[in-house]
Amino acid sequence: MADLTGKVALITGAARGQGEAEARLFVERGARVVVADVLDEDAQKLVADVGEDRALAVHLDVSDPAQWSSALDAAKSAFGQVDILVNNAGIYFQGPITETPVERYRKLIEVNQIGVFLGMQTLAPHMAEIGGGAIVNIVSVSSFAPLDLTAAYASTKSALLAMSKAAVGELGPQGIRVNMIHPGGVATEMGAPSGVVPQEYDNAPLGRIGQPREIATVAAFLASEDSSYCSGAEILVDGGWTVGTRNPWTTTR
Ligand SMILES: NC(=O)c1ccc[n+]([C@@H]2O[C@H](COP(=O)([O-])OP(=O)(O)OC[C@H]3O[C@@H](n4cnc5c(N)ncnc54)[C@H](O)[C@@H]3O)[C@@H](O)[C@H]2O)c1
Repeated sequence: MADLTGKVALITGAARGQGEAEARLFVERGARVVVADVLDEDAQKLVADVGEDRALAVHLDVSDPAQWSSALDAAKSAFGQVDILVNNAGIYFQGPITETPVERYRKLIEVNQIGVFLGMQTLAPHMAEIGGGAIVNIVSVSSFAPLDLTAAYASTKSALLAMSKAAVGELGPQGIRVNMIHPGGVATEMGAPSGVVPQEYDNAPLGRIGQPREIATVAAFLASEDSSYCSGAEILVDGGWTVGTRNPWTTTR
């Protein structure tokens, strides 16, 4: 079980979904957590729930460089330093290329792609100063196995994958590890809006959608010293979806 005692983690998009599960688990494992999100009320509720000595809610729109700088300042004044950055915040859109408003696409790029870039840009100098750190980027199976109707979203995740890999070589010499998680379908507002789980998940080898805590446990591993020699690792957390393709020549399993 990954131990995060004494660590401080800044988690973006932590007010709900996978980010919330990560925040709760990281606190359980001994970390103090900065709950960074645009959903201020939900972030405050989460902090009240896990304890104000363990967590801090910070308003952060990841696409705004000035807000990143304020978030780091707030984290440092509350907890002294930040050892772990989980770039989890993301937005989704699906629709045909011909019907995707370019402004929607630009917004996806701003949040999913530039948001993570700014996170690494803001936190890396601080982590280098304190002797190292762990960055966990929440990418997606869409980055390498995009479904139809996801050209805009998937391309931001592919860019994030390349960006994360480039960061491995750049930040490693400063003691900063950069690792990636590729969730498949996860039961959050994004993966199962209003709690509706598409039947498609029955076809995944594990036969179900993933739960947010199943991403959080992997994030805790990558954030902890248990993965001290991992940088550039990509962990699939998709119930076998992208690898376990059924053999089309068989009629039974
Ligand atoms: N749910 C899935 O099926 C799935 C699959 C693959 C990858 N992912 C990725 O996992 C991550 C988490 O998604 P989720 O499933 O928890 O979705 P979610 O919609 O439940 O949560 C996303 C969180 O990000 C926050 N957010 C959105 N825009 C933001 C911004 N500009 N600044 C700061 N916070 C912002 C939201 O307020 C929300 O709290 C995302 O990066 C997503 O792309 C999700």
